[in-house]
This record gives sequence, C-alpha cells and structure tokens, in this order.
Amino acid sequence: MCGIFGFVSSRQREASVVFEALRELEYRGYDSWGIAVDTGGRLAVEKHVGPISRATAALPAGRAALGHTRWATHGGVTDANAHPHLDCSGRFALIHNGIVENHRELAARLGSGHCFRSQTDTEVLVHSLEERAGDVDLLPALLAVIRDVQGLSAVAVLDVCTGQIVAAKNGSPLAVGWGDDGIYLSSDPAALGTHAREVAFLEDGHAVALGDRGAAAFDIATGLPVTLTRNRVECEAQRGTLAGYRDYMTKEIHEQPEALRRIAHDPGPAALGQLFEQAREIVLTGCGTAYHAALSGRAYLAAAGRAAHVAMASEMPALEPMLDADTLVVALSQSGETIDVLEAVRAARAAGARVASVVNVPGSTLDRLCDVSVHLACGPEKCVLATKSYTGKLAVLQIAAGCAAGRESETRAAVAASADAIETVLRQEASDRAIRRAAERIAEDQHLFILGRGQCYPAALETALKIKEVSYLHAEGFPSGELKHGVIALVTNGTPCIILAPDGPGRKEALAAAAEVRARGAFTIGVSPCDEPEFDLTLRAGKESTALFEIAATAQLLAYNLAILRGCDPDKPRNLAKSVTVK
Ligand code: F6R
Repeated sequence: MCGIFGFVSSRQREASVVFEALRELEYRGYDSWGIAVDTGGRLAVEKHVGPISRATAALPAGRAALGHTRWATHGGVTDANAHPHLDCSGRFALIHNGIVENHRELAARLGSGHCFRSQTDTEVLVHSLEERAGDVDLLPALLAVIRDVQGLSAVAVLDVCTGQIVAAKNGSPLAVGWGDDGIYLSSDPAALGTHAREVAFLEDGHAVALGDRGAAAFDIATGLPVTLTRNRVECEAQRGTLAGYRDYMTKEIHEQPEALRRIAHDPGPAALGQLFEQAREIVLTGCGTAYHAALSGRAYLAAAGRAAHVAMASEMPALEPMLDADTLVVALSQSGETIDVLEAVRAARAAGARVASVVNVPGSTLDRLCDVSVHLACGPEKCVLATKSYTGKLAVLQIAAGCAAGRESETRAAVAASADAIETVLRQEASDRAIRRAAERIAEDQHLFILGRGQCYPAALETALKIKEVSYLHAEGFPSGELKHGVIALVTNGTPCIILAPDGPGRKEALAAAAEVRARGAFTIGVSPCDEPEFDLTLRAGKESTALFEIAATAQLLAYNLAILRGCDPDKPRNLAKSVTVK
C-alpha cells in the first residue's frame, strides 16, 4: 500500500517525471497524492486528496523530487494528511509506507515547539529527524530515527540542504534504479521501467542515500556500508496501458485466454509439481482471491492423490507448529508484496520448511524470498480486482498437481481448453446479454447469495468477493450443502441466489438447492450449461472440464456490469489498494 517514487539528478528535471510515475503506482493507494521538489535550496510541495490519475499539477523543475500516493491508515483522507510531511524549518520532505506503531511515544519524546500539521502516524518522523539532523548529516540522523520506530515501514526523505534522498526499509518494499538521467527510488519496480537500466532491491534493515554522484547503502543497525546488487531492468514490458479498453478491469478480463495459453506451455508449473511429489506435507496459502485459488488448488491436489492444507496467510500462525523440513509451503500472490503472505513465508522458512511461490510480479519480495517461484507472467494487473492472476493461479496449480500425478500433458491440454472456454464466454453476444440481464435484475438488491458445492464452493466465494468489492452489493458465497443448516433462513421473497451448477458431480445437488431456495421465493440465477426449470435465469457456463474458468469469467463480467450499473469505478473500488503491505 502507498506508492513511492523519487529521483536525484545532476541536472534540472521536470517534476512530471514523478507525477507520471506515481500514476503508474496509483493502484497502491488512491486516497491522496503529493510531490515535493527541491528547487535549489527550497521545497515546492503540492498535495491533494483523490486519485492522481484525475489530477493535474504545476510543479517547478528541480534536481531532486519525491512523491507518494496514499492509502490512509492513520488520519482521514485530507490534503493535510497527504504525504509528504515537512519539518518546521522546511528542510525535509518525508514520505512513508507502513505504520509507525509507536508514533505517540515518539511524539512524547520530541522537544517543544514542533508544529504538527496532520493527524498521521508519519509526521512525527520528520520532526524527530529535524531534531537529530541539527549537527549531523541526514543519513546518520535518519538511521537513528528509524532504529526507534516500531512497525513495518519504508521511509524516504528529500533534503533541500544536500539535494539528497535518503530512504530506509523495514518490511515495506523499496527499489533503487539507475538510468541515464539520474537515480531513482520506487516502491515498485514497475514504475522504474521507463527510466532505469538497472535496479536493486533494498533488503529489510537497510537504508540508501541517493545523491547526484550515485547511491550507497547502509545497514540501519550498524551504519556500516552494504552492497546493492544491481540487475538489468526487465520491467519495461510491465508498463500497462489501456490499449483501447475502457478500463483495466475489462482489459485484464480479456487478457485471460492469452495468459492461460502461455501458462499451458510454461515449464514453471512442472517444477512446482516436482516439489509437490517430494513433500510429505503441503500447505497452500494466500489472501483474498489468492486464498480462493488455494482452495481450488487443494481440490486439484486431492484429485492427484495428494492431501494439502490450506490457510489464509493471516491465519498461518495456527499451522506453524506442524511446519518442518518435510513441509512445502506454497504462497500464492499476484503482487508478491502482501504482508501476511510474506510473514507466513518467513515463519515457514524459519521452521525449516521449503517455500515456493506462484507470483505475478517478478522481483517482488515474495519472489526473492522463495526457494522456487513460478511466475504467472500474466503481465501487469492494474485493476485492483484480481482477474487474470486468479485464473492464472488456477492454471498453474492444475498443471502442477497434474504433473505430480503423472498427468502433465492431459492437464496442460485442459488448461488450453479452459483458455478457449473463457474466450467463448467473453466473445458470445448471447452470454453478454444474459449477464447484463442478470446484473439489471439484481443491481438494486441489498443482498445476493452464491451457492456452490465441491469445486464450486471456492468459486462461489470468489464470485461473491468480485461482486462485493467492485459493486458494493452485499454478496456471500455459501457451500450449498450447508443451506439447510441455517443459511436458508436468509432467503425471502425475491432474494437473488446464484447457483453454480456445472456439469459433473454435484450438479444434481445444485439443482436441488436451487429448487429449495426457489420454493421460498428466491430469484434463481443458474450458472449452468443449459436451462433448467429450477432457474429463473441462466448464465451459460460450466462444461465439466473447464467449469472453474468459465465460472470465473462469468463472475468477473457480472461483477463488472453491476459496478457500472451501480455507478462504481471498476478499477478503483473504494477503500482498497492493489497490494496490501500493512497489517
Ligand atoms: C480481490 C483481490 C484481493 C487480492 C489479495 C491478495 O480481487 O484482488 O483479494 O487477491 O489482496 O493480493 P496478492 O495476490 O497480491 O497477494
């Protein structure tokens, strides 16, 4: 959460460099944005509430500039709480991603006379720095401040006295980039692609000083120099553009067939399959949509004769006592920066377990943390909702499980068939019309229930998540077998219920569940290969072998239509950010 971007150059550069880069990082948080420019001994600052993609700025040029897009934690969404925060003298502009857990204690330690202008946990850092930097350079002063901070953070400071940017990392990601026109700092390598030739990722507990002569890194605890390992930038192709689509959600939904075809031929899942074969215990973990993919992964593994445990990454501590050298922990994550996932993997490593990831962003913290990583290679996913990364994870897990069962070519063919099936859902006018009709029917409702059984239960959870996060319609996924154990009490006249009823095992029971809720007045929408008397409306999807993928695409389109009908921004749902880097 929160995007960070800055540069230091030996020549004057337009602040639009930072402005444009922050637009690339907007998905990390879009409550507010702000930029500070060193105009030669003076700070020029602009900061505003709202997404930077809808903003214009008139900042002067400078040799150094630092910017931030905010996802609010402490302090409301106001201009004053937007970063950067300035010290009283106007020497430092400071930005922050993370939480300063002991901000009150740090504020109590300050001398008198500091003027606080925000309600954030961050501002205390810049006043602490002001006190410490009196006689010493910025770098030792920042190291001293950071040593006292509790909580996971990335902090960067622009100093108009020296023209430097100094940054420290403890938990939240930071990367340094070297380009022809300067040195860059970014929370996300995606924003470095157009500027930098080489990139280095800062390790936890390290700080970096960027000046017009280069970058030097240091250990925060000892102050001693450490080496930055520079790699060639591979993220130019990561730049996402709309390419004619009206929004990223639509674009990324339509990119799924191509992404799945690539995965069908990728050697990565086979490497994961080998790990599945070798492990005594398997644990799959992730958050949100990635957790739903993990639940489906467990079913793929079960079909391959392998048992697996699944845990939400935030709930992994409960499984820690069972982790040892014979356990394989597979972390699923689009961003590779989700804090709970990273903590789960670190704990698993500490317990001696093997750790692998299925991740979309190469070079992300998760990617670098794991023994083996399978890259989804879906291309940048900019819409806050996970779409192509979800079906990508399903495909990787299906093939990997197939490999572990000696059925590699069969499962690769199944994924290729799923790519075709999704394409059909996306292309067919009839399916488009039916999805629109369903959306129109339920757009004004307050509650929506999605029923699934077996492999369709995780699909029901994922359908509900997609709908509620983008359209704010309350949607819940339930295992249809549990209906009569309580949930059916929620059904009254006209209550919309989506019943996932693909071909194959469980279809008969799904139709029975549809009949039962319909008998109590529910409006039933079947996701089914054909019409049935139990359904008031049918969304045609669900041939047995490709059902999960067809259901995923149908759910994404339904969620999208609901968002539009309910006047919601499909790419930037309220209160959310693309990568969740704070607890
Ligand atoms: C839902 C969604 C989230 C993410 C979750 C994990 O559409 O996008 O639920 O799946 O925040 O994010 P990653 O996969 O980046 O770890």
